[in-house]
Amino acid sequence: MDLKAFLKEKGECINQALDRFLPAEDIIPHNLHQAMRYSVMAGGKRLRPVLMMAACEAAGGEAERVVPVACAMEMIHTYSLIHDDLPAMDDDDFRRGRPTCHKVFGEAMAVLAGDALLTEAFVLLSSPETARRLPHGTLRRIIHIIARKAGSFGMVGGQAVDIEAEGKAIDSPTLDYIHTHKTGALILASVQAGALAGGADEAVFAHLTRYGEAAGLAFQIADDILDVVGDEKLLGKKVGVDEARGKATYPALFGLMEAKRRAVELRDLALAALEPLPAAAEPLRQIACYIVDRTT
Ligand code: IPE
Ligand code: IPE
Ligand code: MG
Ligand code: MG
Ligand code: MG
Repeated sequence: MDLKAFLKEKGECINQALDRFLPAEDIIPHNLHQAMRYSVMAGGKRLRPVLMMAACEAAGGEAERVVPVACAMEMIHTYSLIHDDLPAMDDDDFRRGRPTCHKVFGEAMAVLAGDALLTEAFVLLSSPETARRLPHGTLRRIIHIIARKAGSFGMVGGQAVDIEAEGKAIDSPTLDYIHTHKTGALILASVQAGALAGGADEAVFAHLTRYGEAAGLAFQIADDILDVVGDEKLLGKKVGVDEARGKATYPALFGLMEAKRRAVELRDLALAALEPLPAAAEPLRQIACYIVDRTT
């Protein structure tokens, strides 16, 4: 299996669907819709949608089924990035290879673009088009998981503790709380949503949950590492900003070597969780390796 081709094919499918689901720029309010599209369509790895599609296939379903849910997840993720970059939070000027949303549209419009992306994600999740593709009970469970993992028990909760931890000495459990929530939560929700859409039974759901937990934490550790050793051009965002801001990161608390060791250990945990699964889980296996080896 060629992971590059898999990421490209699934990524293109998601990009086309996002273009269809997002409000057009010529619909009022123009600036708001432009700002939403500016950030979503700027590129990005589409890792969460691809993970959802791969998990769906690993559980025995057709990836096509989960496309609207995957687009909703990418809208929620992009909202989290827009707000993460605001001056009140990480105050970053570049994202996905271009000036951040608030640099182009102003802070107020960036706040609103994030708000609208989050809300429109739930419009999409509860839309007839999404309902046609999934059994009612499955979709209800998926929406509940995504809502939970996006809110104060998930991504937003992690972001709150991340901000509070700035410039402070924190312990290892607090760092793990931040990482598993601000980033791990949406990654886990993507894998779980894919698993349910694919028809996973409770045992397969449990295996994929272990995979999603390990992959989610590994992803944020790799993000921390890339902020130290990564290439700005490849990443499309500034590096070295975590240390400058006194952010709670794995390299800051444990050093670069230990951070890398932990990421590899988590990758192996993710791979072990997939062992009982059939050959259809191969993309998930390769994505776990990609998460820790990536340069973008
Ligand atoms: C960046 O996420 C923010 C984190 C949660 C670490 P990604 O690295 O997935 O960003 P895009 O979607 O590819 O731009
Ligand atoms: C961001 O973590 C997590 C969310 C956006 C929820 P970071 O602040 O480390 O992400 P980057 O490095 O700005 O992409
Ligand atoms: Mg942040
Ligand atoms: Mg940030
Ligand atoms: Mg980061």
